Amino acid sequence: MNIPICIVFLAGALWKASSNALEPPVELRLKTGRTLLSPRFLSVTIDASLASEPKYIAFLGSQKLITLTRGLSPAFLRFGGTKSDFLFFDPKQNASIEENIIWSLRGKQDVCGGSKVPYSMQQKLRSQWPAHEQAILKEAFSDTYKNATITKRTIDLLYRFTNCSGLHLIFGLNALVRNENDHWNSSNAKLLIDYCDSKKYNMSWELGNEPNSFKKKSGLHIDGFQLGKDFITLHNLLSKYSRYRMSGLFGPDIGQPKKSSQKMLKSFLKAGGKVINSVTWHHYYVDGRTASMQDFVNPVILDTLSSEIKTVLRIVDDTVPGKSVWLGETSSAYGGGSPGLSNTYIDGFMWLDKLGTSAKLGIGAVMRQALFGAGSYNLVDSDFEPLPDYWVSLLFKKLVGSIVLNASFRSTKDVTVESIRVYLHCTNTNNPKYKVGDVTLFAMNLNNHTQEMHLPSFLSGKFVDEYLLLPGEGGLLSTTVLLNGQILKMVDEKTLPDLNEKPLDPGSPLMLPSMSFGFFVVKGAAVSACL
Ligand SMILES: *[C@@H]1O[C@H](CO)[C@@H](O)[C@H](O)[C@H]1NC(C)=O
Ligand SMILES: *[C@@H]1O[C@H](CO)[C@@H](O)[C@H](O)[C@H]1NC(C)=O
Ligand SMILES: *[C@@H]1O[C@H](CO)[C@@H](O)[C@H](O)[C@H]1NC(C)=O
Ligand SMILES: *[C@@H]1O[C@H](CO)[C@@H](O)[C@H](O)[C@H]1NC(C)=O
Ligand SMILES: *[C@@H]1O[C@H](CO)[C@@H](O)[C@H](O)[C@H]1NC(C)=O
Ligand SMILES: *[C@@H]1O[C@H](CO)[C@@H](O)[C@H](O)[C@H]1NC(C)=O
Ligand SMILES: *[C@@H]1O[C@H](CO)[C@@H](O)[C@H](O)[C@H]1NC(C)=O
Repeated sequence: MNIPICIVFLAGALWKASSNALEPPVELRLKTGRTLLSPRFLSVTIDASLASEPKYIAFLGSQKLITLTRGLSPAFLRFGGTKSDFLFFDPKQNASIEENIIWSLRGKQDVCGGSKVPYSMQQKLRSQWPAHEQAILKEAFSDTYKNATITKRTIDLLYRFTNCSGLHLIFGLNALVRNENDHWNSSNAKLLIDYCDSKKYNMSWELGNEPNSFKKKSGLHIDGFQLGKDFITLHNLLSKYSRYRMSGLFGPDIGQPKKSSQKMLKSFLKAGGKVINSVTWHHYYVDGRTASMQDFVNPVILDTLSSEIKTVLRIVDDTVPGKSVWLGETSSAYGGGSPGLSNTYIDGFMWLDKLGTSAKLGIGAVMRQALFGAGSYNLVDSDFEPLPDYWVSLLFKKLVGSIVLNASFRSTKDVTVESIRVYLHCTNTNNPKYKVGDVTLFAMNLNNHTQEMHLPSFLSGKFVDEYLLLPGEGGLLSTTVLLNGQILKMVDEKTLPDLNEKPLDPGSPLMLPSMSFGFFVVKGAAVSACL
């Protein structure tokens, strides 16, 4: 539905050197269409490699990590990735000592309560982690994956973490267990589902990760049609459990839509499309090993996402029209991220632009690789310190609502790339500071000068709350972020900081310094599409 309101932002550019020379004004046209997003739109992943040695699942006992994750609720937590196709569940295998310790600490009445993880154990695991992390990345870079065993405790800890953080678990089952005729063998999955059912775990499912590269990873070639039939096998299996008859089933977690993956997606959807709740695919902008700082702020690279989304949407429209489409695993740079870039302020441009673009084009969920784990693209680092993208995600959750308004941008100049990127949603009205009808603009300035933006006249008399995010020490490559000048950090391991707005007087221009991003909430906007 298109509602015939046209919001026009006038933007002029102020040179940072405070000369008064103005760029020719650019016109931002914000036409309101309405797309309704799930409150879980921004979701997260934990890579299955975290369980390649199950003792590291004990990290998920961290109170700090639970507090940070709870901040992002409601959301899905997808447990998957390449390693999920190499994990076997063995209900008879003993858990690691670390897993048993964490499990024994849970509260007796309240499973989410309980005592603190012993400091010595946490320190020991953290000191062993870097070497293990290197081993995980090495497996990925050499495409040689070892099988690994997970235990009942592994699943208990993963579920406890997810549930106590207020998230919903999506568990990626191993699709590479194959019978001689290449059909999926569901016997190990059945053991695992039986166990989850016995524990009353409310969760959803996937089967296989990036099946387009099964051959490279395991030597097995499985075509889309066969995988579709395997999903029907899984669907039929789930139908036998009253708990899972209606649970979510998502797939095929296909990689970037290159020609061969497009073909696979089509045949998968023809064979199995009817049994899945959402179509999942993966997206990364760049290779983490070769990415440069410029890539992260290059509008041409940022623009590649929308054409890939359109390609996938076209395939889905042709095969299973109306089915929702998710970015089931996504980040800036593949191969574990780009150290020194993916974990710093500069990653926020790709992350925020991905959220804005995906919402606008109708993607139903964006699952950030990863919340925590190996590599440098995590929201929280291995010392449980939240990184800039964590704070971007938290602000997005708190300020950006489910109704997407169609913000398009037209320059009076003849330019095709957009270096000022703006997205507009109705404000999240679960936030007690805001009311129905308020709107949230989030904007990025990829230019070398401060950008000045003016609200259209019908909004120019309104109060605006500014949430400007600037890098902390170290500039664009900072691992800290300032909100309206104050560094963002946890108050203590159970408490997130207040996200304090900076109120702007009615009529004030919105100023976005060069190479920065921020959120602006227009209060009392009474935009009809939000009412
Ligand atoms: C958003 O606006 C653009 C440009 O006016 C238009 O091409 C597009 O179809 C609109 N999308 C929606 C969902 O309204
Ligand atoms: C598992 O633990 C039990 C009890 O501690 C022990 O008796 C048994 O030998 C262990 N099994 C394996 C395979 O390690
Ligand atoms: C992993 O297990 C599967 C199924 O048992 C087997 O076919 C495969 O060869 C194993 N892979 C490795 C690397 O051992
Ligand atoms: C599936 O795997 C199980 C366990 O390895 C095996 O016992 C069973 O025979 C397999 N099923 C088929 C149909 O091959
Ligand atoms: C999930 O968490 C809620 C509290 O947050 C708790 O009441 C419920 O029992 C938990 N579910 C399971 C299966 O542990
Ligand atoms: C299971 O989780 C889903 C998703 O959060 C929720 O809609 C459903 O009500 C839950 N079912 C039960 C029995 O708690
Ligand atoms: C920013 O502008 C200055 C002055 O015009 C120029 O020297 C510099 O190269 C520019 N930097 C970028 C990243 O465009």
